[in-house]
Amino acid sequence: MRILLASSEVHPYSKTGGLADATSALGKALAKAGHQVGIVTPLYRGIRDKTPGLRRVDWHFDLPIGEKRVDAELWTVEPMKGLTIYFIHKPEYFDRAGIYNEGGKDYWDNGERFIFFSKCVTHLVRYLPWKPEVVHVSDWQTGLVPLMIHHQTRTEGWGNAPRVCMTIHNLAYQGFFPGSTYALTNLPLDYFHGEGTERYGWLNCLKAGIAFADVVTTVSPRYAREITTEQFGEGLDGLLRKCEGQGRLIGILNGVDYEEWNTKNNSWLKAPYSVRSLRGKAINKSELQREVGLPAQPDVPLYGTITRLTDQKGMDIELGALEEMLSTDMQFALLGSGSQEHERAFERLARQHPGKVSVRLGYDHGLSHRIEAGCDFYLMPSRFEPCGLNQMYSLRYGTIPIVRRTGGLDDSVSDVTDNPQTPNGIKFSTYSTLALSKAIRKSLAIYSDKKLLRHYQLNGIKADFSWDRAIKKYVECYQG
Ligand code: ADP
Ligand code: GLC
Repeated sequence: MRILLASSEVHPYSKTGGLADATSALGKALAKAGHQVGIVTPLYRGIRDKTPGLRRVDWHFDLPIGEKRVDAELWTVEPMKGLTIYFIHKPEYFDRAGIYNEGGKDYWDNGERFIFFSKCVTHLVRYLPWKPEVVHVSDWQTGLVPLMIHHQTRTEGWGNAPRVCMTIHNLAYQGFFPGSTYALTNLPLDYFHGEGTERYGWLNCLKAGIAFADVVTTVSPRYAREITTEQFGEGLDGLLRKCEGQGRLIGILNGVDYEEWNTKNNSWLKAPYSVRSLRGKAINKSELQREVGLPAQPDVPLYGTITRLTDQKGMDIELGALEEMLSTDMQFALLGSGSQEHERAFERLARQHPGKVSVRLGYDHGLSHRIEAGCDFYLMPSRFEPCGLNQMYSLRYGTIPIVRRTGGLDDSVSDVTDNPQTPNGIKFSTYSTLALSKAIRKSLAIYSDKKLLRHYQLNGIKADFSWDRAIKKYVECYQG
């Protein structure tokens, strides 16, 4: 099939979280399976310098944004056969220090930036010479694309428009902007109501995507069920229940790009290892301890977390449980960035427990691989988690995930109570410090029994979350 994906983040060009990994891995997997694939994304600062082969195409965007017209260039690169990345080059919108924010503050014109991006995507879908049969958009940043396509097919005689698939990677971010921003879409007011793109008088970009896409997917089966409830629906549960009733809501668990996330041939790691021998893992552990300034003690269990520091990720109970558990012999390494409140709390924890807690604030791709490889356990006690990738990366790295039973965490990790023969992680249900501390105690018991530890590690390494399974399901959605 001919498929055009659109996303505000694509690894390795831009990334703040799992959306970047999921988009790039899906694109690669579809191209490998023989489909013709394009991915459209903004050309952010720094991409030109690090992307050999990137070139400008003879194409010019000149699109209305409210009362003005805005132009942009199109640049492309072909990282592999069958896959073309299309970059929208508009320095006024995208050549900035951050992707969505700077110094903890969202850019004031995010509405305008991504309305423009969505218009460029729609324009490409309509005029690309290879005529995509499917357009697949993700999250609020491209949420207006399904509506723009719907509108143009109804009013501008766009025959044979492609099928539109929308994926929700995280319902907590909906792209809310003051109602006046809607004028920048140049769409008639007919869509600005409760069944369309409006909520409480505000423009809601994600809602437009859910309402107007042919099929709506989200990134795990359990999250697909959760978001139809008031507890997880973030105010859109009514619309999502309707979608479910129409058979338009489908949960597909993300896969892992094992070319990128592997322990056998990985330039970020000191020592390779695999299911045949975990010796290299021990070397990576002591290297990591050295790198993050913890004593290189092979027999002390090392826990890790790599995350955006937001309420979603359960950092309040993680801090509480660590404070309780750090009196035992254990170490903890954090790599993260996000809310100042969380950053300060973790720094305080590190000061209170020197030699036991290491905190790195910021973004560091190489270190994220080394934490996955060097730790014994990975903590991910999320309040909600649409899919979650780090628990799946941990499994492949022989690092036992400790997760809360929610969303994709529940769908990807096997606790001994789910699977007595081949458990690969520890799960807990209640969102509380107490429940997480109890799970950490279970992990200490596993750690003290080397045979059992190895059993969990090997079960994790053998678990298979490759994209082949997921793309079959996506292609079914694309075919309708
Ligand atoms: P989310 O998308 O909600 O942030 P995921 O688990 O799906 O959560 O994906 C997070 C991705 O971002 C992982 O690849 C993780 O390693 C990466 N990541 C998060 N924070 C950092 C950081 N500070 N440095 C490097 N990588 C990070
Ligand atoms: C979102 C979710 C995360 C998911 C990722 C990729 O950022 O928070 O759970 O893994 O998207 O789909």
